[in-house]
Amino acid sequence: MASQVNGVDLRVSIGTLSLRNPVMTASGTFGYAREFMPYVNLHRLGAVVVKGISLEPRSGNPPPRIVETSAGMLNAIGLENVGVERFISDKMASLQGIPVPVFVNILGDTLDEYKEIAARLAGVQGVSGIEVNISCPNVKKGGVAFGTVPEMAAAVTSAVKAESTVPVVVKLSPNVTDISAIARSVEDAGADAVSLINTLIGMAIDSRSRRPRLANVIGGLSGPAIKPVALRMVYQVAQAVSIPVIGIGGIETAEDVVEFMLAGATAVQIGTANFVNPRASEDAVEGLAHYVAEQKLGSVRELIGGLILP
Ligand SMILES: Cc1cc2nc3c(=O)[nH]c(=O)nc-3n(C[C@H](O)[C@H](O)[C@H](O)COP(=O)(O)O)c2cc1C
Repeated sequence: MASQVNGVDLRVSIGTLSLRNPVMTASGTFGYAREFMPYVNLHRLGAVVVKGISLEPRSGNPPPRIVETSAGMLNAIGLENVGVERFISDKMASLQGIPVPVFVNILGDTLDEYKEIAARLAGVQGVSGIEVNISCPNVKKGGVAFGTVPEMAAAVTSAVKAESTVPVVVKLSPNVTDISAIARSVEDAGADAVSLINTLIGMAIDSRSRRPRLANVIGGLSGPAIKPVALRMVYQVAQAVSIPVIGIGGIETAEDVVEFMLAGATAVQIGTANFVNPRASEDAVEGLAHYVAEQKLGSVRELIGGLILP
């Protein structure tokens, strides 16, 4: 049994969901999971999160949409996706066969859009949880991102919660002054957990052509470059809320997973590392089991918030 890799108890809970281990895959980096089946034994993962789904289909930004940076990458995919109706009719059938919980990541331009997507996903078989991407601009509020204003983040959370029958995870934006304040406001609004961080806004310029490297000019930075920022934010948020925290940002190895759990994460998500090593998530589970056994821990849960301060 995957929750007992080498006899080690790796189980963790997110709301009412029990995961066989804390290693999840991050939205937008693992397709609809099927694509990774030749490389990864999905049974071994804690959960998968699928690409962000909007109410209507989106074609995304023009290319180039991805560039490599020092220790990371910048992307401006522009949230390309098939829209919620086609997601349910075309993608859900194969996701229903996935042997681990499936979180559907959702996004919207307005509060009503978030509410509508959540309503359409309610009761759909195979949806184990919702992850709400609040890094999107609110078109009714001059394009200010939902995730940057505590009241707006709370409003999205309550709207989605009101329509959902499964745990709701709110995914926080790091592009804020005080991420703990946002975390507290979504917890008060009923979030079952928070996940963090989404990408940091960045930019790359080609000195020869004097042009931006991304057609969209700015994009989201991910990968090892953002890990220290993510760890710091997970540490701060874990102290500010009592709901589970899911750590994301530059996680590549089991050692990274342990660091995020010591900072206070209950679970983690692996993103950009999937592009470098499609087996990264499964390798991390295996390495985590070895670490827990070697450290003679009763369960992986003993790591959560176990940081020893100077
Ligand atoms: C190509 C790409 C697409 C992404 N798409 C989404 C998305 O649709 N929804 C979302 O909430 N986050 C999305 N993200 C953000 C990741 O899920 C993750 O939060 C971020 O990349 C940081 O983790 P990492 O450093 O392990 O990649 C995307 C990231 C990348 C690199």
